Amino acid sequence: MKVISILNQKGGCSKTTTAVNLSYALAKNNYPTLVIDFDPQAHTTFCLGISSNKGICEVMENFLAQKSIPWQECIVKREENLFVLPASIGLTSMEHKLAEREDKLFILYKILNSSTLAYQYCIVDCPPNLGLLSLNALIGGNFLIIPFTVCDLSLQGITILNQIIEMMKKNLPIHQDIFYLLTQYNKRFHHSNQFLERARNSLKDRLLKTIIRTNVALKEASSLGKSIFEHKPRSRGACDYQNLAQEIINLTQEVEWANFFFKGNNFKEVYVVGDFTKWQKEEKFRMKKIDWETWSISVPLKKGKYCYKFFADQTWLKDPFNVHEEDDSFGGKNSVLVIK
Ligand SMILES: Nc1ncnc2c1ncn2[C@@H]1O[C@H](COP(=O)(O)OP(=O)(O)O)[C@@H](O)[C@H]1O
Ligand SMILES: [Mg+2]
Repeated sequence: MKVISILNQKGGCSKTTTAVNLSYALAKNNYPTLVIDFDPQAHTTFCLGISSNKGICEVMENFLAQKSIPWQECIVKREENLFVLPASIGLTSMEHKLAEREDKLFILYKILNSSTLAYQYCIVDCPPNLGLLSLNALIGGNFLIIPFTVCDLSLQGITILNQIIEMMKKNLPIHQDIFYLLTQYNKRFHHSNQFLERARNSLKDRLLKTIIRTNVALKEASSLGKSIFEHKPRSRGACDYQNLAQEIINLTQEVEWANFFFKGNNFKEVYVVGDFTKWQKEEKFRMKKIDWETWSISVPLKKGKYCYKFFADQTWLKDPFNVHEEDDSFGGKNSVLVIK
């Protein structure tokens, strides 16, 4: 499952509009998609016309209490291929509950990796701040879409966000592709064209080719609890979000993220080593500790079959969480992973 988090600390830059309409477009294109509304304001839940008293908050509470997660009760089927984990007001206090935990940044990452959710895409809509929920979405996502509008302050905001992401990447097992999406664009305004040039110069190929134009039908659709494809399928908004879905499908289809986990609290360093590292111990495959005993790393891999082991303080160990293995050439076993 490819997890795409839609993140920007600024409000009003089309995070929710993008979460709703990109998810709907992916589902319409036959990609089973799960949307997680990670904003206590529950805008995505509302904009998809859902009312439910269970959702991501209950999923997290069960996980924190080490209980099994009642996925069936929490996930709402909105449409063929479109599923939603709604938000509820309880999410507001979730930040406080997380704050006490050592693994406070990794709860979503752990939940998504401990389940066998069979969706192709998972879209996470974030609140307009960089609190613990947004940071969980940042770490839990394999891809980040950062929407921004035509305004210099929004480019400044992106610079700050980039610095934070780079800082986190140094210390945490994260490895995402970041895409920037220009939204609410109106080319009739002269300064919009100049702004687009500047954004292209500074964001280079990270700026998505699709630009979401201003379209009042998007606003109307939200207030009706509908996607743009249900409200006005021939509108500019529908055309732009369909193009966005196609661009995202093209950009993400080659790579799948494999998240490796290893447990052991008395090791100094742990690496994942395999045919994808040419069986060399490489710095970029060094695992990071995400709680007192768990090490993890996220590795982008193309489709194929891979053999690997963990190399923990000079000792070779197979993956205790993976039952698939085959003989190595030294009389031991390698763990085997197939990326489909
Ligand atoms: N392309 C667009 N054209 C017109 N209105 C838009 C567009 N994108 C978003 N909006 C409107 O702008 C407001 C803020 O968008 P929203 O998606 O809620 O932002 P965020 O989730 O980042 O706070 C909403 O009222 C929404 O309907
Ligand atoms: Mg929002």
